[in-house]
Amino acid sequence: MKTKRYNAVITGLGMYVPEKILDNAFFERIVDTTDEWIRTRTGIRERRILEKGATSDLAAKAAEDLLKTKNMSPDDIEVIIVATVTPDMFFPATACLVQNTIGAKNAWGFDLSAACSGFLFAYQTACSLVESGTYKNVMVIGADKMSSIVDYTDRNNCILFGDAAAAILIERTEDNLYGHRGSLLKIDGSGHDALYMKGGGSLNPPSHETVDKKMHYLYQDGKAVFKVAVRGMADISYEIMKKNNLTPDDIAYLVPHQANMRIIDATAERMGLSKDKVMINIDKYGNTTAATIPLCLVEYHREGKVKKGDKIILAAFGAGYTWGASYLIWGM
Ligand code: COA
Repeated sequence: MKTKRYNAVITGLGMYVPEKILDNAFFERIVDTTDEWIRTRTGIRERRILEKGATSDLAAKAAEDLLKTKNMSPDDIEVIIVATVTPDMFFPATACLVQNTIGAKNAWGFDLSAACSGFLFAYQTACSLVESGTYKNVMVIGADKMSSIVDYTDRNNCILFGDAAAAILIERTEDNLYGHRGSLLKIDGSGHDALYMKGGGSLNPPSHETVDKKMHYLYQDGKAVFKVAVRGMADISYEIMKKNNLTPDDIAYLVPHQANMRIIDATAERMGLSKDKVMINIDKYGNTTAATIPLCLVEYHREGKVKKGDKIILAAFGAGYTWGASYLIWGM
């Protein structure tokens, strides 16, 4: 069955990171840890923290950066998808708040919740909307204010996360040479209790008890997640390579979710890729959840390191569990 009328290609990029930096020395002062432990176990040196405002502010700034760079009117955006696990509030959707802030008066949109795989799932959804011919363009924003759900007394987790947003625009093209080629995406809810935020939803509505028990913070069994993340991300990245008959030489870049440098290294190793073919900025931003992959794309593109025709694999693993990989040929 042929469902693809057009090709979907990334034609716009934008990003926003807040100014305030938390370096590893900061964490040495507030919890029992060391710069050396954090660097060697995670690869992280710094993260950005939004002091004032919410996820929609991060997302709107990334969207505005994209529009400015592309010299595009907000009136021309048809769909906005915001991938996030830290929405400003349960409802309205962060996509509505962003739409209002940037004045995208002709757009519809929604939020997508898939934690660290959120951007990847939103990217595939956007490509499908464009490939079917239903929409000419979709803006996908990965945005998270992780500092709003991190317990800064929990040394296992507080060192890992930061705040950021990045946006891409996906447009239709009849040119078959560039653009999205396909994804492999998975969920496995049996991992729901290894990484979650238990309080605040319909299962545990907010109460004194949920606050006292710290249920409004992110909880992670790091060791358990690490094991499945290494296997999950490496296997699916290898699988998408094989499915598309790609050799390591064919691939210009792996763009992995930035959760832990050791997970990234294991994925690159499984794919047979040298380090210069892996986009990395975990050292500067830590794990920014839905923002990691687009943030890498924007930075590497702006540094002139990505060129038209480059074959790129995006890969992620996150809470749920959720994971996947996408293959695209760069068209900008
Ligand atoms: N500073 C110093 N020591 C710390 C520490 C910190 N910030 N955090 C944990 N430790 C300690 C642990 O308490 C443990 O001590 P113990 O052996 O006395 O119990 C020791 O370091 C080793 O802990 P462990 O959990 O085995 O460390 P690790 O090598 O697995 O690294 C993570 C911990 C969280 C960095 C790692 O497990 C990880 O990255 N997990 C997956 C994250 C992820 O991918 N999430 C999915 C997407 S969001």
